Amino acid sequence: MTATGARLLLRDLAQLATPSGTDAPLRGPALGEVEVLEDAFVLCRGDTIEAVGRMRELRGLDGDVEEVSARGLCAVPGLVDCHTHPAFGGDRVEEFSLRAGGASYEAIHAGGGGILSTVRATRAAGVDGLREAVRRHASWMRAQGTTTYEGKSGYGLDRETELASLRAVRENGGVPTWLGAHAVPPELDGDGDAYLDFALGEVLPAAATLAEAADVFLERGAFDAAQARRYLEACRGAGLALRLHGDQFTEQGAIPLAVELGARSVDHLEATSADGVRALAASQVVGVLLPASALFLGRPMPPARALVDAGAAVALATDFNPGSAFCESLPLCCSLAATQLRLSPAEALSACTVNAAHVLARSDRLGRLAPGYRADLVLLDAPDWRYLAYHLGGNLVERTIVAGELP
Ligand code: NIG
Ligand code: FE
Repeated sequence: MTATGARLLLRDLAQLATPSGTDAPLRGPALGEVEVLEDAFVLCRGDTIEAVGRMRELRGLDGDVEEVSARGLCAVPGLVDCHTHPAFGGDRVEEFSLRAGGASYEAIHAGGGGILSTVRATRAAGVDGLREAVRRHASWMRAQGTTTYEGKSGYGLDRETELASLRAVRENGGVPTWLGAHAVPPELDGDGDAYLDFALGEVLPAAATLAEAADVFLERGAFDAAQARRYLEACRGAGLALRLHGDQFTEQGAIPLAVELGARSVDHLEATSADGVRALAASQVVGVLLPASALFLGRPMPPARALVDAGAAVALATDFNPGSAFCESLPLCCSLAATQLRLSPAEALSACTVNAAHVLARSDRLGRLAPGYRADLVLLDAPDWRYLAYHLGGNLVERTIVAGELP
């Protein structure tokens, strides 16, 4: 926490809403316990929140304070997107149009399109092109209220492009994850074991110095459970935290593997069964819900209500990527959480702030509006903070403040 720095007072907020729990990740009823202050202020000092409260409790402030009127606006914590794929070249608009006409995502992938078409475009983008792509994607996220994002590699699948992807995320303020096991690249002709020999031997040592976590796509047509275990154990040995793309189309053992290896999260869960729900709820692993991806692919939504009711820790993220979720909006994900996942607006807010910060091991500083937390806030153009979920596709982010800096 900084004790010095310029002071900024955001005053006359219609409402301020923040997850109330201090223990992260929040589970069960605590997930929906959001504290709401009417007619509120936030006082920042440098990059840190000094105080929050009701206007009538605000005492005279000594010294220089920049005052900003937030009349008619609501404040929520800066949104934390704990699952994105921003490091890619090209687009998949052609594939999107084919899918709109009935082609399936899995069939396109099996035919060498899908992820592999983005691999070709990402390799062709070069270091500068990749850096510029991540910069552009991160700016889109910021405009939607995201103040911290995780960004995965996984569209290079060669040494140079994987490392360039991780650097591009880092240089653009993101939290890098090495998705070194996303797909088997074309030059290895479907031989996942040979690809892992290469990735773990040639890429992991450098990736481990750039990334905070490793991720694997455990799915039919990608990597199987034995390969995922091999990849994750090696990455854990190199000091990386573990994440999994699991249960997206089929259950292939992602939850038991994540629990056994002490992973931070299993993400997707659209195909998770009642047994999977129970196993996740009994563990420390966070289930990351990606409803924009389920919507974009016309897939079943993850069993979010069952997970929360069983006591699982859940987070909410966009899965921003060119193929399965070309969507950088966490407010839209909050709307999907409320309309499709049967989560309350309060549960959705906690899931994409404090619980997402936990997935990124930053819950001591991010995800709440409280003294000592980083001064990351979203000002919503709304009379009630629940418009965050209510205003479907609305343009309600008035300002995104990061580390006390007014845009
Ligand atoms: O999280 N499922 C695996 N990976 C991404 C999609 C990648 C793509 O289609 O380009 C996901 O959905
Ligand atoms: Fe993903």
